Amino acid sequence: MALRFRNIDIISTSWLGRIPVISGAHGAFVILRGPPMRVYLETFGCQMNELDSELVRGQLTALGYRFVETDADAQVVLYNTCSVRELAEQKALSRVGTVGVRKRAGEDLILGVLGCMAERDGVDLLRRHPQVDLLCGPSDLDRLPQLIDNVRRARAASEAHGAVAERPSRAVALAGNRSRRSSTLAAAEDGLESLDLSRAFDPSARETPWSAYVRITRGCNKFCTYCVVPYTRGAEVHRPPEHIVDECRRLADAGALEITLLGQTVNHYRYTHGTAVTVDGRAAPQVGPGLRAFRDAPAAVVDTTTFADLLFRIHEAVPSVARLRFVTSYPRDFGVDVLQVMRDCPRICRYLHAPAQSGSDAVLARMNRGYTVGEYEAFVWRVFEHLPDATLAGDLIVGFPGETDADFEATCDLVRRLPFKNNFIFKYSPRPGTVAIDRFADDVPDEVKRWRNNALLAVQSETSARVHAAWVGRTVDVLFDGVRAHAASPARTAGAVAVRVGGRAVDGPVGGASERWQAVGRTKGDLIVAVDRPDGPSARELPGTVREVRLTASRPLLLAGTIVSDE
Ligand code: 5AD
Ligand code: SF4
Repeated sequence: MALRFRNIDIISTSWLGRIPVISGAHGAFVILRGPPMRVYLETFGCQMNELDSELVRGQLTALGYRFVETDADAQVVLYNTCSVRELAEQKALSRVGTVGVRKRAGEDLILGVLGCMAERDGVDLLRRHPQVDLLCGPSDLDRLPQLIDNVRRARAASEAHGAVAERPSRAVALAGNRSRRSSTLAAAEDGLESLDLSRAFDPSARETPWSAYVRITRGCNKFCTYCVVPYTRGAEVHRPPEHIVDECRRLADAGALEITLLGQTVNHYRYTHGTAVTVDGRAAPQVGPGLRAFRDAPAAVVDTTTFADLLFRIHEAVPSVARLRFVTSYPRDFGVDVLQVMRDCPRICRYLHAPAQSGSDAVLARMNRGYTVGEYEAFVWRVFEHLPDATLAGDLIVGFPGETDADFEATCDLVRRLPFKNNFIFKYSPRPGTVAIDRFADDVPDEVKRWRNNALLAVQSETSARVHAAWVGRTVDVLFDGVRAHAASPARTAGAVAVRVGGRAVDGPVGGASERWQAVGRTKGDLIVAVDRPDGPSARELPGTVREVRLTASRPLLLAGTIVSDE
């Protein structure tokens, strides 16, 4: 039976054979028919959000939604948000404000806030921003089609009755503390796994089709005092290894040359077989065993797939993937077993993103990072002992509550001592709901934070210059991913890319001034390499290919070279 409201059908479950149906942990539901709706989706924040957006896009496309390039053309506007710093939230809120102006002017739009800000701010966000129609936290993205459907249905119904909605129809899916209630419950309720499993494997859904993310772990159990992630993404949950390996295989079949495994503390990956919960005949993700597990020797843990095991399995299963990398590593629980697998498997990139956060023991203790500066350093030297050609990157926070000049100087010293190729440097931003905001006054003035940020960038720039210069003269594989025209070149056109590290442009040509185009790529160690090409077409041949490049010159964040086969 179908109900008709104007030109839109609301289809009952008896029509299921003819229309797309979502089913999963939250039951089956039906969608509205009509011309395909145009969706605009903008993503803020980390790689996990980028992957979530790719999955959302695949899911909605399969249901007949059509994605558009600008919000001006869209009927559904979705922002996948980040809450890690206030600035990221402000950016998203300013977009929400702009859509609000359009809605008040009479445009018929559905506005959805997805991701960490939806989860953190919850229904307060709806109260303060009445133009928002739906909220969907990162652990509930599998329910998004249902939420959009609910809003559309309620609107269609009120239109059909000629009613002006007194209370706007809104749809909300947030996890609250569900994921921390019990491991069995969390696994059984974990509809998000079905979103990962429903991946479309469509290379065109990615900006760089040859490169893909695969989630292995969700959430975080670390509770660093400054961080919202354990609250917004919930408890650490590990995906079954079979699901991960299968996803990597299918991405490889679809042409992926590079796979990056994602987890907030990726090296905490651990899946214990035999105790796994099964949902609908399928192994379910598993809540992390807690930090004590990392004190056991891996061999003593029976029938467990450790992070090292998983890396090895993927490496063997997908030989066509030239690069297997992973982010982000938590420095304390990083076993030698992982380093051994990295050493023995040529396609695993010897690259670590392992944030130190601070170079002061007092600050690390207040951050609840769980290690001292000495332990961090010992970890780094252990890495280089096993993998002499490894590259190291990290994150650092300046201006954490109580950070003295001496604490800050200790962080600068750490950056001078250790071979960081780059560090993402952040000013501390107090986040509602975290331990730090309750326990510590935000007592470092903003101008001091700004000064420390710039001073640390200058120190990092010297270290980066040393690290990059040491690679000059070597020949390395480069996976090309972009093209750019030199800033001063008359050939500069739209579509050329800027070389960016952590959102900052790395400017200017490194080679001779006469060439006007460069193809840009990365080494296995994530060092950026630019190669001069005589013109745009010859530069554009390179993205998506791996070439041997002889490195000839360096800048703090950039290497220049020539392709060996061209010489
Ligand atoms: N303020 C500043 N930086 C933060 N980060 C996380 N939370 C905050 C915060 N409240 C940084 C950490 C982390 C990176 C993703 O963001 O350095 O590693
Ligand atoms: Fe946040 Fe710390 Fe977890 Fe990283 S390890 S996501 S900084 S709580």
